[in-house]
Amino acid sequence: MNILILSRNKQLYSTKRLFEEANKAGHNTAIVDYMHCNIINEKKNPVVYYNGQSLRYVETIIPRIGSTFTFYGAALIRQFEMQNIPTMVTSQALLKARDKLHCLQALTCEDVGMPKTYFTHYFYNTDEIITAVGGYPFVIKQLESTQGHGVFLVKDRKHASEIINAHLSANKKFIIQEFVTESKGADIRAFVVGNKVVAAMKRQAKNGEFRSNLHQGGTAQKIELTTIETETAIKSAQAMGLSVAGVDMLQSKRGPLVLEVNASPGLEGIEKITKVNIAEHILKLLES
Ligand SMILES: Nc1ncnc2c1ncn2[C@@H]1O[C@H](COP(=O)(O)OP(=O)(O)O)[C@@H](O)[C@H]1O
Ligand SMILES: [Mg+2]
Repeated sequence: MNILILSRNKQLYSTKRLFEEANKAGHNTAIVDYMHCNIINEKKNPVVYYNGQSLRYVETIIPRIGSTFTFYGAALIRQFEMQNIPTMVTSQALLKARDKLHCLQALTCEDVGMPKTYFTHYFYNTDEIITAVGGYPFVIKQLESTQGHGVFLVKDRKHASEIINAHLSANKKFIIQEFVTESKGADIRAFVVGNKVVAAMKRQAKNGEFRSNLHQGGTAQKIELTTIETETAIKSAQAMGLSVAGVDMLQSKRGPLVLEVNASPGLEGIEKITKVNIAEHILKLLES
């Protein structure tokens, strides 16, 4: 198969691993920087060019789109979709997953738990909103936050008005979310490939921190998921239209609560911690 990995940097762990496994399986594999690709449309002729060469020969794409480049990445994936070239992540699923509100909206009718979450632009009744999400402390999250940047724990009324006003004046969209105290700074990352969870880890925030992201100093260990956690992860990935996904969940008194579904989950932390060859699972899925 002619496989194209769309990535900004050949040296990134996930890119390298996918490239390695694709080559090991005997595929003709290339990595191109999606920010250096050109999209050309004319009547019945959607094409992608890279270095002056058409990428029509490609048979499947593996997008690894960075969070700062979602718009360009999704536009490029769409251009491959117009040529009926299969993609590991569709443009629609990527856009949905990159917006925390859209993601929770896509899950709200499914049989999966989530922290109670509020979204508005109309703050005439801030106290009511805060009461609705369980009072203080509560969480404010920018819609496109990643790696814990743009996720805040709000402790009191003064802090709430400062942070809400700062976001409104910077025109930054955010959700207001119930703080799940009993998860005690831990969360679960379940890595879904196809209709299976192939690896899972529990991440614990460092002392004095509520965000368990490894990029915020969190530490992680391999765990076995319960049946309901496994089912929740799979249902969430499916509802998002993702065949490869990193589902983040909190453990709570009322069962697993989904925080977000990542469309381009990193392989480094989870492969090293669980010793699972996730890249190989992804390649097997693409082949099937
Ligand atoms: N509602 C919440 N209650 C308790 N902890 C939370 C809540 N939301 C987020 N967290 C913590 O903050 C981390 C980052 O939040 P998340 O929604 O996954 O955003 P990001 O995309 O930045 O990783 C989570 O992994 C979790 O540890
Ligand atoms: Mg997360």
